[in-house]
Amino acid sequence: MIELRGLHKTFDKGSAPVEAVRNIDLTVARGSIVSLIGPSGCGKSTLLHMIAGLYEPSSGDVIYNGRSVDSVNTATGYMTQKDTLFPWRTVRDNVALPSELAGKAKADRHRQAADILGRVGLDGFETRYPSELSGGMRKRAALARMLIYRPETFLLDEPFGALDAQLKLAMHELLLRLWTEDKQTILLVTHDLVEAITLSDRVIVLTRRPSRIILDQEIDLPRPRDVQNVRFSPRFKEIYDQLWDFLRLEYEEERL
Ligand SMILES: Nc1ncnc2c1ncn2[C@@H]1O[C@H](COP(=O)(O)OP(=O)(O)O)[C@@H](O)[C@H]1O
Ligand SMILES: [Mg+2]
Repeated sequence: MIELRGLHKTFDKGSAPVEAVRNIDLTVARGSIVSLIGPSGCGKSTLLHMIAGLYEPSSGDVIYNGRSVDSVNTATGYMTQKDTLFPWRTVRDNVALPSELAGKAKADRHRQAADILGRVGLDGFETRYPSELSGGMRKRAALARMLIYRPETFLLDEPFGALDAQLKLAMHELLLRLWTEDKQTILLVTHDLVEAITLSDRVIVLTRRPSRIILDQEIDLPRPRDVQNVRFSPRFKEIYDQLWDFLRLEYEEERL
């Protein structure tokens, strides 16, 4: 469904061009969850931006559903570590903003927002303001705002990075529930190897900048997965150790 072919991105910053992504080839099957993991600054966000059609590749192609991406890819929803909720709007009005811009009637907007807020576990919080929500609830609201576009692909850029361990687990559970219901294709950038293995069908390890793929590891843990306990299974540990061997090299070289 998503195919990156000989993808390359160099930022031309005056006299010192920055080569962020070098020759990436990657195919992502529809409905799969694929994590990208690698040192910070290696080009992961740049890669997601190219899939979203926000950055143009310097060379190579992003093929999405058989067509080359050459403008904003509206089939994708983007979520980052920062939530971008408007503080002066209620949760409901934040989530319903796209339908408001599309000119939908108020009653329809409210119904749609209530439905989506229910899916992410925020029923009853429609008329609250973002400042009244906990960190985990704000994450849920941000997720709801992405869901209202009904994206068939989620591009998640370290979305749960700032959450504490318990909230992270709750978000993992929620994400896998949404995925079980709708089978979105999910590309997840993360620093957290446990998170990557827990959620994914494949984990891709990238080198430091310019990023290339050094490992493409299938995660053959059975589903449905118990996000709380899957990490204690022997197979999980095997996969973790294998991946960490590759990842460690990249982080060690980063420190030299
Ligand atoms: N819009 C931009 N203009 C210039 N350089 C950029 C831009 N976006 C990213 N870069 C550079 O590209 C490299 C990779 O960045 P990024 O994709 O954000 O890394 P990551 O997400 O893996 O931490 C960095 O050196 C960064 O400074
Ligand atoms: Mg990034």
